[in-house]
Amino acid sequence: MVAQKIDQCMRPHGSEGIETIRNMNENHREISEFAFECIEIGENDRILDIGCGGGVNIEKFLKLTENNVDGLDYSEVSVAESLKRNESSGRCRIIQANVCDMPVDDETYDVVSAFETIYFWPEISETFKEVSRIIKPKGQFMIAQGTDGNHPDDEKWLETVEGMSVYTAPELEKYLLNAGFESVKTYVKENDYIMVVIARK
Ligand SMILES: C[S@@+](CC[C@H](N)C(=O)[O-])C[C@H]1O[C@@H](n2cnc3c(N)ncnc32)[C@H](O)[C@@H]1O
Repeated sequence: MVAQKIDQCMRPHGSEGIETIRNMNENHREISEFAFECIEIGENDRILDIGCGGGVNIEKFLKLTENNVDGLDYSEVSVAESLKRNESSGRCRIIQANVCDMPVDDETYDVVSAFETIYFWPEISETFKEVSRIIKPKGQFMIAQGTDGNHPDDEKWLETVEGMSVYTAPELEKYLLNAGFESVKTYVKENDYIMVVIARK
């Protein structure tokens, strides 16, 4: 049951995938709210949300910038749900692709975000280099997640799902600096496990 649920979070599919996405829109609200408190968005920033799921964070970014806010996800269902929510803005394109090989030009975005998704990314060190490639100089990469790597439930998730990884702040900092980012700042919500990591190129 837990494995099935996480499998849907890893790559939503079918009608159950649509339901999972709609639940995530609600269940991840606190993580999203904390992340938006941590990051500064310029009014002309061009933004990409990787692992965009149902597209709620794209919708929030669209209110903060006048530029385009795109999404990227390898799940067909996530792409469709994100589009449904945001295409009327006229400033949003959703790309169906794997984060480890994105059909995106070098130095395209001012801000790239990843909410509740890096657990599922392969070869994190190499994938962070791919993310760094598409960010402009001085641009930002924000990771937002419900665990700081010390959540009491982490072990259970890791045992249940093959290929899932949970990272602590020092591990993320090491991988991000190695991927070419210049600086890394970590924010953990008080009395909680919610963690936001912002790397600047
Ligand atoms: C747990 S959901 C989070 C969705 C949304 N960001 C949120 O916070 O509600 C993870 C999303 O990341 C996507 N994802 C996972 N691994 C991916 C990869 N390697 N490339 C692209 N998308 C990926 C999944 O398809 C899914 O839509």
